[in-house]
Amino acid sequence: MAISFDAEHKVFNLSTPNTTYLFGLFKNKFLLHIYYGKKVTGSFDIKDVCDYGVRGFSAESVLTPGEEYSENDMPFEFPTYGNADMRIPAFHAKYEDGSTLTRFMFAGYKITKGKPKLKGLPAAYVEDDSESDTLEIELKDEETGISAFLLYTAYNTCDIITRSVRIKNHSQSNVKLDRVMSMNIDFHDNNFDFVHLHGGWAKERHIERVPLMRGFMGVDSKRGASSHVHNPFFALARKNTTESSGDVYGFGLVYSGNFVAGVDVNPEDISRVFMGINDFNFEWNLRAGEEFQAPEVIMCYSADGFTKMSQNFHRLVRKRICRGKFRDTTRPVLINNWEATYFDFNEEKIVAIAKAAKELGVELMVLDDGWFGKRNNDDCSLGDWYPDKNKLPNGISGLAKKITDMGMQFGLWFEPEMVSPDSDLYRAHPDWILATPSKPASLGRHQYILDLSRKDVRDYIVGFMTENLSAAPISYVKWDMNRSITEAGSAMLDKERQQEVSHRYMLGLYEVLETIMSRFPDVLFEGCSGGGGRFDLGMLYYYPQFWTSDDTDAVERMYIQYGTSMLYPTSTMGAHVSAVPNHQMGRTTSIDVRADVAMMGRFGYELDLAKLSAEEKEKVREQIIRYKKIEQIVHNADMYRLVSPFDSNNMAMEFVSEDKETVLVFYFTILGKPNRRPERLCLEGLENGAKYEESETGRVFDSDVLSNIGIQFVCDHDFQSRVMTFKKVK
Ligand code: DGJ
Repeated sequence: MAISFDAEHKVFNLSTPNTTYLFGLFKNKFLLHIYYGKKVTGSFDIKDVCDYGVRGFSAESVLTPGEEYSENDMPFEFPTYGNADMRIPAFHAKYEDGSTLTRFMFAGYKITKGKPKLKGLPAAYVEDDSESDTLEIELKDEETGISAFLLYTAYNTCDIITRSVRIKNHSQSNVKLDRVMSMNIDFHDNNFDFVHLHGGWAKERHIERVPLMRGFMGVDSKRGASSHVHNPFFALARKNTTESSGDVYGFGLVYSGNFVAGVDVNPEDISRVFMGINDFNFEWNLRAGEEFQAPEVIMCYSADGFTKMSQNFHRLVRKRICRGKFRDTTRPVLINNWEATYFDFNEEKIVAIAKAAKELGVELMVLDDGWFGKRNNDDCSLGDWYPDKNKLPNGISGLAKKITDMGMQFGLWFEPEMVSPDSDLYRAHPDWILATPSKPASLGRHQYILDLSRKDVRDYIVGFMTENLSAAPISYVKWDMNRSITEAGSAMLDKERQQEVSHRYMLGLYEVLETIMSRFPDVLFEGCSGGGGRFDLGMLYYYPQFWTSDDTDAVERMYIQYGTSMLYPTSTMGAHVSAVPNHQMGRTTSIDVRADVAMMGRFGYELDLAKLSAEEKEKVREQIIRYKKIEQIVHNADMYRLVSPFDSNNMAMEFVSEDKETVLVFYFTILGKPNRRPERLCLEGLENGAKYEESETGRVFDSDVLSNIGIQFVCDHDFQSRVMTFKKVK
């Protein structure tokens, strides 16, 4: 059993192959966190680990009348506002009598095999009940009639524990939920660094590591999407933790909207960490008998550094967050016309790009923005999803037929959640946009956001997507979303519910995606949001890949893809070779470097291949053959971050197949140094005692030589790359 309750010592024990999570029932009333870390098999008694004697200025406990505890130091498993704990609570609500106090007490638990689905929300899943156990604990506040159901799933197959919370209103009155965190852990000390992924458009998910301060620190999004700026991920690492050693705790939220994640360190150096829907501008009305489901957090503890943490996350994301046909199959190498033409194309141009690409081995032609309405720039036509006959006289079906007749697959771009003011859709339904009633809404990229909290809007989106995907042989959809959500309000909801809109939008979007994707299981969906502005675990439940960034420069991509790999596997990262000088950076790198960087992701091209020299075309042909050979390894292997571009002038990643038979090493120099000795790179994850043959040269190395002495790379030029393949000698 991965989960058990020791009734004698009052301790809940959750275990994964290498980790243990413990919390206990104190005074038979409330839950206190005990431990999360390396696997522990010995038993504990809740009494042995909880000594929360009186400290200056502490109050008499209302939870255990007559006894004094310093509740402000107690490690509550799910803290509320309502006693003498003055730290940031996981739960805060307003009741009809004006009170905001909640006092949850333990009311029962059950342990089941497997893992239940979360109503209306994406979540990690199991395919067989033997993969995990789930613990559901009920906490109840008898006075207010509110229950919190804490859900924990411990996987047997990887070191992942998931958590989420469901709130139920058993009372007869309306309750306003202000804050419902999906997870809270009160760690015993504050000797940690906070590691997170920050960025902006074209510079997503850069790694930052800062020491915890006393007081509150954290990251969030108020942009209606998880956003380019902060990703719903963070890790707490010990000071000495490196990629390959030391303790680290990682947390990822399976949600795509406004989130908050942070740490509150109290004067006793206890670190309260939490993650969930952002409570900023959030309020949920829970009527009598209703339930509210908070999204899921996936948690991983690694005793062996960041790489092990990421490998665990990657395994889960690849196989138990991503779903559908494309989870396990190879995916087509694509060409996308965006950076080749932008809005300036017609059928002839697209067919020519496809033809040149087909000749070199590309399998899928994707037509990006600009094919519908009268969209010759970005200031009109979103919402008018019928082909522009000036550009495409034979419509999408005519173009798609030409492409598929060539033996290629055809893919199409949509931005279904948006509407341009200059569109037939907006003229017909001006009230369909997100806006605060009676106040004008801001435009972003000349567009408004459709109000997906409305059923009529959701039906409309499902309707036109179904029509378009049924009318032509479309094998791939790029689902874009090109602005932040501001002024989230809905004309359909009454005034008390306006602060529900951001979350209702997400629930609406998830419903739409579920409907469309189950209707078209053979279509490969790639998510996008001005690049990686909604690259999160919630989205990956629907699309198995996401456009990582609008920045296609090979050097910038090294940083972006390296940072992204903290939580997300390469199998989810769309990565294309584009033209030089690069359109975002003006930088010129060789087609080899551009391809080698893109091969550490879902590989494709985004330029007019017809414009390449004969030599470059030959390289493209070889690149596609090479990628096809390594695709399954890169996307299913254990990934090792060997050299960080954030700490050095180089970048290196290694991929070791699960059976340790094949090893791929990607090594890059960013800026070369003159007259420089070669760098040595030691490999990781090899089989002890085995010999490995380097494919290109046929040289055979002992694994301990590769792991300890390493291989040499010359780094005397800017923007160089080298990819090496090693095969275990039989
Ligand atoms: C933003 C995307 O990230 C780009 O790749 C492209 O699809 C444009 N939108 C089109 O408007």
